[in-house]
Amino acid sequence: MIRLQKAIADLGYCSRRKAEELIVKGKVFVNGKKITELGSKVNSSDEIRIGEDILVKQEKRYFMFNKPREVVTTTSDDKGRKTVLDYFDIDTRIYPIGRLDYDTTGLILLTNDGEFANAMMKPSNRIQKIYLAKVNGILSRDELDELKKGIVIDKHKCVPDKVRVKSIDKNSNISFIEITIHEGKNHEVRKMFEHFNLDVLKLKRTGYGSLRLGNLASGKYKELSIKEIKVLYSLIKK
Ligand code: URA
Repeated sequence: MIRLQKAIADLGYCSRRKAEELIVKGKVFVNGKKITELGSKVNSSDEIRIGEDILVKQEKRYFMFNKPREVVTTTSDDKGRKTVLDYFDIDTRIYPIGRLDYDTTGLILLTNDGEFANAMMKPSNRIQKIYLAKVNGILSRDELDELKKGIVIDKHKCVPDKVRVKSIDKNSNISFIEITIHEGKNHEVRKMFEHFNLDVLKLKRTGYGSLRLGNLASGKYKELSIKEIKVLYSLIKK
């Protein structure tokens, strides 16, 4: 017997966290009976239904996607904005791992493997994300040192794993800074630069764990190879 929310994630329907939400909202039925208790357990012969969908075990799939600007990283949007799923023409139900801001571009993973998604998002696994930020200003040496030592955001000190100034244009007062972080706080990179009164004009995620965006075009996706998946799995702390 396993917990209902784990069973739903294992079946590839959504993450365990999302499954918990669906259970509490009364959307989940086991053998025809509505279940709203998070402690409920099921076994492999139980029929799990969410809305109209009867869940059956699906092959696990893993994709990387180069998100364009003005796209949301949810599976649906009540404001009618484009979602990452609008770019996929596959018949498996997948969902994004974590989030990127509406205006952030770059690498995001999508999968139907709930356990994998949870592991990638779990803070203690410290999965590194690399961002390239175009900012409207130039940090002084002292400010760069301060950034490297960490910035307090919403009462929590965020210490980047790495900060590299990639280029500076003194005429236009613009710099490109690469910053590697392993946390997933909302708007974390933008808030770090806000601390120095700098606006992030463009933000692109170029790396996620062992993966790099490379030459994957904006709006395109690529299914991960077994080797790429294995390397990502090896980053998970047991
Ligand atoms: N940090 C941000 O500020 N925005 C993102 O989209 C990701 C990280």
